Amino acid sequence: MIRGSTYTLLLLATLSITCRWTGSSSDSSMQAGGGVEKTQRVALAYEERQGKHLYIRYCAVCHGQEGKGDGFNAFNLDPKPRDFTDSTYMRALTDARLLETISEGGRGVNKSPLMPTWGATLSKDEILSVICYLRTFARPMKPGE
Ligand code: HEC
Repeated sequence: MIRGSTYTLLLLATLSITCRWTGSSSDSSMQAGGGVEKTQRVALAYEERQGKHLYIRYCAVCHGQEGKGDGFNAFNLDPKPRDFTDSTYMRALTDARLLETISEGGRGVNKSPLMPTWGATLSKDEILSVICYLRTFARPMKPGE
């Protein structure tokens, strides 16, 4: 089960995503090593830093600086933006799915149209770097996982 999703993530990573972080595999090695505190933030890789600039500029107003779905605008939104720090939820979303949602907006994927369409504003590479950054919110795993 876990192995399957790790494999899919790795496959996707080689297909499109350039971030060096490969999701659950690096998390489990960190846990296995035992040396890294679960609450400690790992330094951002280059692509993640690129994505961070874009995220702060375009997404944080609704999704929140910390990705918790509590941005300045969020009180106006129903449904609320998802909590990107929810690692269980986020792990179920493939990078391809995130790319589709961000490019086409909520309307394009049967979600709320309050999630805007970004495909005309951001290039595919820019969206991929934002995805790299989005993935850092749920990292490392919450205790008990
Ligand atoms: C105007 C407010 C707003 C802005 C700005 C915004 N979003 Fe959203 N976003 C939403 C809302 C509301 C949802 C929830 C849609 C739903 O669950 O039906 C959402 C959902 C999402 C989802 C889907 C999560 C899931 O449950 O599948 C992703 C991914 C996402 N946003 C990424 C981004 C990114 C990346 C940006 C910046 C480029 C961005 N959003 C900017 C409001 C916003």
